Amino acid sequence: MCGIIGYTGSSHNAKDAVIEGLKRLEYRGYDSAGIAVFEKGKINLYKSKGKISNLENLLKDKNVSSNCGIGHTRWATHGEPSETNAHPHTVGKVTLVHNGIIENYNELKEKLLEEGVSFKSQTDTEVACAYIDFVYQNEKDKLKCLIKSTDEFRGSYAFGIIFEDEPDVIYATRKDSPLIIGITENNENFIASDVSAILNFTNKYILLEYGEYARVSKDKVEIFNHELRKTTKEINIADWSSSEYEKDGYEHFMLKEINEQPKIIANIFKKYSTDPSYIKNVDISSYSNIHIVACGSAMHAGLIGKYLFENYDNIPVTVEVASEYRYKNQLITPNTLVIVVSQSGETADTLAALRIAKEKGAKTLAIVNAIGSTIAREADICIYTYAGPEIAVATTKGYTSQVAVLSLLALEIGLKKKTISKEMYEKIIEESNSIESLLTDTINKHDEYLNIAKKIHEKEDLFFIGRGIDSAVCMEGSLKLKEISYMHSESYAAGELKHGTISLIENDTPVIAVATDINLYEKTISNIKETKARGAFSILITTDNISKESTVDFADIALTVAKTNTFIQQIIVVTALQLIAYETSKLRGCDIDKPKNLAKSVTVE
Ligand code: M6R
Repeated sequence: MCGIIGYTGSSHNAKDAVIEGLKRLEYRGYDSAGIAVFEKGKINLYKSKGKISNLENLLKDKNVSSNCGIGHTRWATHGEPSETNAHPHTVGKVTLVHNGIIENYNELKEKLLEEGVSFKSQTDTEVACAYIDFVYQNEKDKLKCLIKSTDEFRGSYAFGIIFEDEPDVIYATRKDSPLIIGITENNENFIASDVSAILNFTNKYILLEYGEYARVSKDKVEIFNHELRKTTKEINIADWSSSEYEKDGYEHFMLKEINEQPKIIANIFKKYSTDPSYIKNVDISSYSNIHIVACGSAMHAGLIGKYLFENYDNIPVTVEVASEYRYKNQLITPNTLVIVVSQSGETADTLAALRIAKEKGAKTLAIVNAIGSTIAREADICIYTYAGPEIAVATTKGYTSQVAVLSLLALEIGLKKKTISKEMYEKIIEESNSIESLLTDTINKHDEYLNIAKKIHEKEDLFFIGRGIDSAVCMEGSLKLKEISYMHSESYAAGELKHGTISLIENDTPVIAVATDINLYEKTISNIKETKARGAFSILITTDNISKESTVDFADIALTVAKTNTFIQQIIVVTALQLIAYETSKLRGCDIDKPKNLAKSVTVE
């Protein structure tokens, strides 16, 4: 979702530094881009619809030389993607870029229209810009002007602001949308939505908090609180290096990230076994119920967690999408643990759900990948997944690392509650030593995934079915396929299909069935046969303890993956599903890393 970058300094041309930063933010998802730069003391705007390459083409012959600029990738919310709606916006002396949504922009707009202000775009951002300019006409102290203005804004925002009468200085503030200040010792400083945008220049950064206002010049970064007192901030060092943001020879980031999974998952298990401060000392065994709250794939990881917590720890678990949870009666008791799961740690609905859970007195535990993100900082306890930066919009290693952490939590609780015996625990830990090679073997079945993709890529509708924990992994397999290949796909509990959906099965409709749980295997096979009898093209994904030959009369294709214990089985299965989605998307000619309409980090409701 929208990205912000700002540069002030004398070591680089601001235009180049800002464009470089925008390219690093592309992964967040966007549909237009723009920059504003000081050129000879005057602010000039350059904007274009579509890719950053369009903006680069626009700038090609312009010979822009500048010491300070701000830039933005916009993911349209208020108003279509267009050059006019693209950021930056200028009104009077104020030019700004904005992430988030100003919810009361209509109210503010009416007030400004009465004052004779006119608007060019359909955006809430231009209204915010006009409002700041309106306040600035009477309040010449810029920080006071920003405080007075933002006090009137409802909603979420991260702003990068430049004033025409103060060249080479960037102001910034935020609420519920992330913003960092990049620090260097080379007479240059930055503002950015996340560290990826600045890593080519510096790995030092300050996290700006809600209610803080920054004044950034090339050799000075000053942070003020709402009362205009200067605050001293901790300087953080980013662990992730800029090379982690490269494709590293892979055709797509998604493929690179799938291939990183064997090491990442093995490391999570290793860290758990060798570092007692990681997972082991998080004692959550005394809670009588758990709410797992998240969005998209992170919610699907929660479904795997539910299965494990309920089956192995005897704890009732509800899993809910954060956008619903935040507006319902959450039924939190003193004994409720709320687990929020988020790769980015910035998802607006998940963050809101976390805050509500805290307000209502629940103990909160976050499972997060992005170090230092808002969710990671605000939860009572945070367990990092250490998956490294995820660039492809479709999550892969983000999801599997969440499943790994949830599995280990379930194991740990079971051991503490003695619902899992020491022998069983030790066997599972022993088996987890082979996770790296099992995942590598799974990834290496490339030809089989391609073969399945060839069979399904021309279809428009597809179904996933499974029972128990397999049903949870089907949800993720289905989402992966539809988000990157634009095929219509639905995931159903295998026994539920005949209660309506089976009427959609036609000749050759692909049905992908996952059956890894031996206790439910025959039941799922019956469900596959039901679809097959109605013409379905059936693809069975099962484990290698079941012979492929025995599946010939009901499976058009049978794919086997290594059999292992329930705590890691789904990490292996989902890797196969990720690769089927990847190959299918490729055959359909889709933009795999940046699927249309999607954003990586969803920082608005
Ligand atoms: O950063 P988060 O884990 O909070 O993101 C949640 C979802 O937006 C995310 O998983 C989304 O569903 C992905 N596109 C799935 O691939």
